[in-house]
Amino acid sequence: MCGIVGCILDNEVAPTIIESIKKLEYRGYDSVGIATVTDKINVKKGSGKIKEVDDEIQLTEIDGNIGIAHVRWATHGNPTRENAHPHNSCDNKVSVVHNGIIENYKELKQELQLEGHVFKSETDTEVIPHLIEKYMKEGNNLLKSTQLTIKKLVGSYALAVISTEEPDKIIGARKESPLIVGVSDKGNFLASDVPAILNETRQVIYLEDNEIIQLEKDKVTIMDNNLNPIEKEITTIDWNPEMAEKGGYPHFMLKEINEEPQVIRDTLSESPKIKEIVSKFKNFNRICFVACGTSYHASLIGEYLIETQLHIPTEVILASEFEYFQNTLDNHTLVIFITQSGETADTIQALKTAKKISETLAIVNVVGSTITREAHHVIYTRAGPEIGVAATKTYLSQLICIYLLVAHLKEDEELIQKLYSIPELAEESIKREEQIIEIAKKYKTAKDFFYIGRGFNYPTALEGALKLKEITYIHAEGYPAGELKHGPLALIEDGIPVVGILPPGSSYAKTFNNLQEIRARGAHMIILGADNDTQIDDVHDKLLFNPVVDELIAPLIYIIDLQLLSYHISVQKEIDPDKPKNLAKSVTVV
Ligand code: M6R
Repeated sequence: MCGIVGCILDNEVAPTIIESIKKLEYRGYDSVGIATVTDKINVKKGSGKIKEVDDEIQLTEIDGNIGIAHVRWATHGNPTRENAHPHNSCDNKVSVVHNGIIENYKELKQELQLEGHVFKSETDTEVIPHLIEKYMKEGNNLLKSTQLTIKKLVGSYALAVISTEEPDKIIGARKESPLIVGVSDKGNFLASDVPAILNETRQVIYLEDNEIIQLEKDKVTIMDNNLNPIEKEITTIDWNPEMAEKGGYPHFMLKEINEEPQVIRDTLSESPKIKEIVSKFKNFNRICFVACGTSYHASLIGEYLIETQLHIPTEVILASEFEYFQNTLDNHTLVIFITQSGETADTIQALKTAKKISETLAIVNVVGSTITREAHHVIYTRAGPEIGVAATKTYLSQLICIYLLVAHLKEDEELIQKLYSIPELAEESIKREEQIIEIAKKYKTAKDFFYIGRGFNYPTALEGALKLKEITYIHAEGYPAGELKHGPLALIEDGIPVVGILPPGSSYAKTFNNLQEIRARGAHMIILGADNDTQIDDVHDKLLFNPVVDELIAPLIYIIDLQLLSYHISVQKEIDPDKPKNLAKSVTVV
């Protein structure tokens, strides 16, 4: 996790660099820090969110035209000021920011301590400035010293390094943690992700694993790990800075939910590309989805669709559990990886194993992310930058890609046409916001919530529950409607809110009966169903949808109301839904 930025300008760098690092706060908000180089290394850092630290120590009041900055999601060491990056060498001539984990840091630290190095933090990162210092003292320049240092590291890193010995450059390196370069006439940039540099430039170079970079004001040199220069393509990003801003909404999450109808339209425009990719698949007789969290729930919907529409055996594996299931892969299995960030460490690890045996497809939001470079085929979800930690619009865009994939595999023109009606139906969901706010007020003090669905709509129950847990801290469970009687029904008591997902279709009658069983035990029923359904009159709360939204396409619409419900409960509880505690947007540790 963590986000890093490096920047070289003609003028004072701190205001630009702090604006850039704010765009990466979704990657971690345990601490923030900046270092610049003048005749010495200047550092300001503190624990907490950027705004809190800035109010206390004015992060932009620091001289220098060259600087690096960091936001932290703590892995090694508590989120204290001492553990906040940047970390310096003993002689304070080298300063480093790092995203990733150095697995052999204990051995390296011991060796360095025996040589007299004094450590000030509990972090794995701090071995890096000390190693660079050591190699510089042996007569190497900053670039060579960084190269020698990374040869000693086991683990993952995206690094930015500055030194008073060479105050005109930043050295960067990447292995298994994202790092991009931004180039412009005003200066050059390094960052963990594109939103950090969008205010300055849209010209981006994506770095690959084991590449090293030397950034100067008017020059960018990219090298392999033996320092041989390599030519890299500059990509022009079509995201604009406003897309990465809140656009007038109080939170990114609400903005991102409101963008869903357009995101669905944009993702539908990928249909011809998806058709082309489908035509390139080799013969397969089995499909395996691999993903985490919300992307796992999108995959579950894929499983229901493929099994029912294509009759191809399909399974869904949590990326973190993949190693226990990998032995049955063969060259007739198509393995589909779903990830909005393209940087989830568990998913990357699974992909690296699977691609040796099976054909792989990745469905990803972030262009140029690690997974897009590893998979045999890639489909982009066209959701634009998602800053809120809770996945919302990226989930919808993943689902659209999965539905299009199935429709093209089945050559089902009718399904494709049905998908083109989704954006308008999504707009109707968003218009129900006032009603959802009233429901949120009513249930904001609940201690537990249940979400119940059947068939295609069981994963929606899981996703509704995950959204609630993640941003309201209310305990929530999603269950298949028929499963409660096998145990969880014992938990139902007077007043407990139960969200029932009840679209029209073949699963309706059984789900309705299961919901009656729950209601009879005193639960407060919040039912999502068709607005012509007379049977759901007599419930506590209802959210009513156009009856054309049947059970097959309901996952694309009903979840929007559930995202809004979680959002408004979070706001009612005065929690920041964009930055839920203990979580980060991009989970780059296994
Ligand atoms: O970037 P990914 O889609 O691979 O992320 C997977 C999960 O970490 C992610 O979906 C997480 O569960 C969401 N923040 C939930 O809203």
